[in-house]
Amino acid sequence: MTTPSERLIEVQGLRHEIGGRCVMDVASFSAGRGEHTLLIGPSGSGKTTLINVITGLITPTAGEVRIDGQSMSSLPPAKRDQLRRRTIGVVFQTLRLISALTVRQNLSLAQTLALGQAEPKVIDELIGQVGLGHRADAMPRELSQGEGQRAAIARALCARPAIVVADEPTSALDDANALAMADLLLSTAEATGATLLIATHDNRLRDRFPRTLALTPPQVAA
Ligand SMILES: Nc1ncnc2c1ncn2[C@@H]1O[C@H](COP(=O)(O)OP(=O)(O)O)[C@@H](O)[C@H]1O
Ligand SMILES: [Mg+2]
Repeated sequence: MTTPSERLIEVQGLRHEIGGRCVMDVASFSAGRGEHTLLIGPSGSGKTTLINVITGLITPTAGEVRIDGQSMSSLPPAKRDQLRRRTIGVVFQTLRLISALTVRQNLSLAQTLALGQAEPKVIDELIGQVGLGHRADAMPRELSQGEGQRAAIARALCARPAIVVADEPTSALDDANALAMADLLLSTAEATGATLLIATHDNRLRDRFPRTLALTPPQVAA
């Protein structure tokens, strides 16, 4: 059983430096199941760096990240990959669908990599949830931008991750599509029980997300 207060993401004393310069600084942050959070801040404030630390792609200079109770930042790389695959789905700004595979095959591959096997029923259900039932056998190049985004969301969810992170998912979209994308992320997260962490400098999304984590650019040396 899970409770709403269960902490899926916990960050303490996190700092990252590149070439001696602090590029990301988060004293503390946590999100429990169902606590969707918008990670906001201007360009250069460290949003992508924080997402990369949370997903275990980079090791922070200082501090700790716990994902579903496990210390991501102190695990060896192979174990981090396992933890990420098991718990986190990623929606990339540039979608990163594999161009030689259909929508269904993209999901099937992602699911096999994450879970060791494909579950065709789950895949078809997800494809339906994002409204792509009629496009399951289409190639990525045949999709509209909005359809491609739906496919990327479905792929991020296909291993039923507890957490879904998205880095600037709406930055290339007009107002109507940006809000539609946010609503789709929220509705699919509700349907699958995933918790969202969405990095954005896009103020259009703020009405949709009561919880925010605001980053400010670490002070620049004069
Ligand atoms: N690999 C890198 N090498 C040098 N500087 C980097 C690197 N990654 C990020 N930075 C710097 O760190 C700061 C924060 O970057 P980033 O996390 O991408 O911010 P955001 O996503 O909020 O725009 C920026 O000043 C950026 O130039
Ligand atoms: Mg960024």
